[in-house]
Amino acid sequence: MDKSLRTALFSCVLLMISICVPSSFAQTCGSYTFSTNQVFSTCSDLPVLSSFIYWNYHPSNQTADIAFRKSGASSTNWYAWSLNPSGPQMAGSQALLAFHNSSGLPTAYTTPINNLSPSMQQGDLSFQVSNLKAEYSNGEMIIFATLHLTASLISTNQVWQEGTMSGTNFNPHSMGSANRASVGTINFATGTTVAGTARTSSKKNVHGVLNAVSWGVLMPMGIMIARYLKVFKVANPAWFYLHVACQSSAYVIGVAGWGTGLKLGSDSPGVKYSKHRNIGITLFCFATLQVFALLLRPKPDHKYRLYWNIYHHSIGYATIVLSIINIYEGFDILDPEKKWKKIYTGIIIFLGAVAALLEVFTWIIVIRRKKTVSSNKHGNGTNGTNGYAA
Ligand SMILES: *[C@@H]1O[C@H](CO)[C@@H](O)[C@H](O)[C@H]1NC(C)=O
Ligand SMILES: *[C@@H]1O[C@H](CO)[C@@H](O)[C@H](O)[C@H]1NC(C)=O
Repeated sequence: MDKSLRTALFSCVLLMISICVPSSFAQTCGSYTFSTNQVFSTCSDLPVLSSFIYWNYHPSNQTADIAFRKSGASSTNWYAWSLNPSGPQMAGSQALLAFHNSSGLPTAYTTPINNLSPSMQQGDLSFQVSNLKAEYSNGEMIIFATLHLTASLISTNQVWQEGTMSGTNFNPHSMGSANRASVGTINFATGTTVAGTARTSSKKNVHGVLNAVSWGVLMPMGIMIARYLKVFKVANPAWFYLHVACQSSAYVIGVAGWGTGLKLGSDSPGVKYSKHRNIGITLFCFATLQVFALLLRPKPDHKYRLYWNIYHHSIGYATIVLSIINIYEGFDILDPEKKWKKIYTGIIIFLGAVAALLEVFTWIIVIRRKKTVSSNKHGNGTNGTNGYAA
């Protein structure tokens, strides 16, 4: 390898390491100084909602002095941090709530979250809390408190959340991915926290996976098989059976996924998904048409075969384009962890790149073959055409 190229590669790798390693391991909570100069021995950067938790734990009396800090806070939002011994979830959370009250002052109180539409009015928690106060300055909302823990609360779940306010009313928090990922565990004694993951119902996951795999991956692959394998004489008629196998399994999985979508839609009336549903219904019709088209396929030399081909190809390509659009629509509705959208985008780019390469390759083969055919015709009149170029 050329020396300068090697140097360039090496510095590129070094640069990547120097950017990625500190950003994934460095804690930023520790560099913060509280206005009260209070010092906490332990702190943790919470993974979402730009929040931080600080504490000093006293094993002798099982108390923890804590500070929950939210940066980029607004004076018209509410902020909550809670322990939830009943699970990594909202229901059962023993919450400390901070907001600006009608006097425009930051204030905090305790509120137990007993159901999924809580009143968020002041109430006692399952454990005692003292020294509770809220502080707001420079766009940072901080809740200070002393928690009088019981043995079962020393290592438990923590949940934090935020939402907007309309006057003195607390609006429900959004259901974005960060608001669903704001859970984890905390161990006051060992000083560790572990991030939880965004919870999506398994029904939604099943719907997403079935449809992304069938409409979004198998069907485009089935088209690629038909388009690019056909050109090789040895792959005839194997390409046809492969194409049919790929598309029929995609159809079966796709219809199952489509069914889970109809069920999900009727289970969640408040969710805006009409565009996704309409595209989904169109896709189901297109794919079903393709299955029937196979049964009604005229013989290769039939005079209508050309029209059938045009029809089959245009519905096929339209299905792929609509499928990919609808998968992205689905990502926006279900809002799963970002990595899934990235992974799917990666697969689509990969398939697209392979298709582009094969397209070039196919054209080279077809043009070469035409040349051979025409020179053969000059020589001995053999007809080697196979119709691939058509
Ligand atoms: C708990 O113990 C610590 C030191 O061990 C002490 O500083 C703190 O005031 C005690 N808290 C309560 C509420 O008794
Ligand atoms: C607002 O909160 C502050 C600080 O907690 C408190 O002193 C004040 O009385 C509260 N005002 C109202 C109207 O509740």
